[in-house]
Amino acid sequence: MEFFYSEKNGWNKWLKSIASKKYSSCFVLVDQNTAKHCLPYFKKQVDFPFTLITVAGGEASKNLKTCTVIWEALLKGGADRHSLLIILGGGVLTDMGAFAAATFQRGIQFTVVPTSLMAMTDAAIGGKTGVNFGPIKNQIGTFTQAESLLLDTRFLNTLPLLELHSGFAELLKHGILKGGTYWKQLASLSTPTIPYLEKLLPVSISYKQHIVDADAKESGLRKVLNFGHTIGHAIESLHLAKRKPITHGAAVLQGMWVEIVLSVAHAGLKPEIANQLFEVLERFTKIPTYTEKEISLLLSYLQHDKKNNSGNCQFVLLEAIGKPVFNQVVALDHIAHALRIC
Ligand SMILES: NC(=O)c1ccc[n+]([C@@H]2O[C@H](COP(=O)([O-])OP(=O)(O)OC[C@H]3O[C@@H](n4cnc5c(N)ncnc54)[C@H](O)[C@@H]3O)[C@@H](O)[C@H]2O)c1
Ligand SMILES: [Zn+2]
Repeated sequence: MEFFYSEKNGWNKWLKSIASKKYSSCFVLVDQNTAKHCLPYFKKQVDFPFTLITVAGGEASKNLKTCTVIWEALLKGGADRHSLLIILGGGVLTDMGAFAAATFQRGIQFTVVPTSLMAMTDAAIGGKTGVNFGPIKNQIGTFTQAESLLLDTRFLNTLPLLELHSGFAELLKHGILKGGTYWKQLASLSTPTIPYLEKLLPVSISYKQHIVDADAKESGLRKVLNFGHTIGHAIESLHLAKRKPITHGAAVLQGMWVEIVLSVAHAGLKPEIANQLFEVLERFTKIPTYTEKEISLLLSYLQHDKKNNSGNCQFVLLEAIGKPVFNQVVALDHIAHALRIC
């Protein structure tokens, strides 16, 4: 997969790369928000004709029904195996559009132009495509790499603040996992501004791509990217049950908090390093506190997690900043203790 960065003449290079492939036709996929906020600017950058496909956005639309809308539009627009799908959107569209492209006529090429921070730092990289099936997230999908990704942080100007903060959680996660200067840069931030993100995103992207290159199908190393997610997914389920949904990033921030507590007890993370991490996380999330009822619900969600192993749960824990370890089994009573003391 090729990467193009707008501040490095990325649009021109991306356009040249598309022209050189001599596609038979081009399609651009948007949702109602990216049609309104991103498409006008996109149209000013491109110099080729395309057919627009607009679908309803948001997690509730990430399903096979919406894929059918995409496939029908491709057929109606005369797409063939040499057509290109350009996905202009957040993580829902990059996952779903990529899946629709990967399966249309056994696979047509696609390129991603991520417009949310979540898609720029995470969803649009790594080749996981898919849709939800019934209540289960990302149940149907493929591993298929995009041809290319074009990064332009100007799209973030119209992204709602809540969504910006959600994506920033994954950036922080990359910083904690990578460590070194990258973590220091992130740790010095009190608020994620777009000029800063423009500098940080290429590091985050190349960190994720480097992990994916080493383990595309998540049989080992790629699991480290699940840091914060074992507890984070249970927190998302808890909020859904309370009918007070929170963003994925907000749940991951709290998940990382709890998994740092577990890292001190089970992976030898030094308490003073944990405190440094908490000090940074506290700028972006509230210190999590759970009632006994919530703890027992969280434990029951954890037991249904895909990463569960005979009644215990598997975690990514930290030995130090920049030193994650995966497949760490922690007993439920130890998890309950961590939830009580954080
Ligand atoms: N494939 C992966 O590895 C991977 C990794 C992380 C997340 N994901 C997936 O990503 C999805 C979440 O992504 P998301 O948070 O980007 O959600 P999203 O695509 O729903 O975008 C969030 C909201 O912002 C709007 N939006 C996007 N860009 C905008 C812009 N520039 N201006 C104004 N509004 C804009 C969207 O229309 C939507 O309403 C989830 O479905 C998750 O499963 C996938
Ligand atoms: Zn995530």
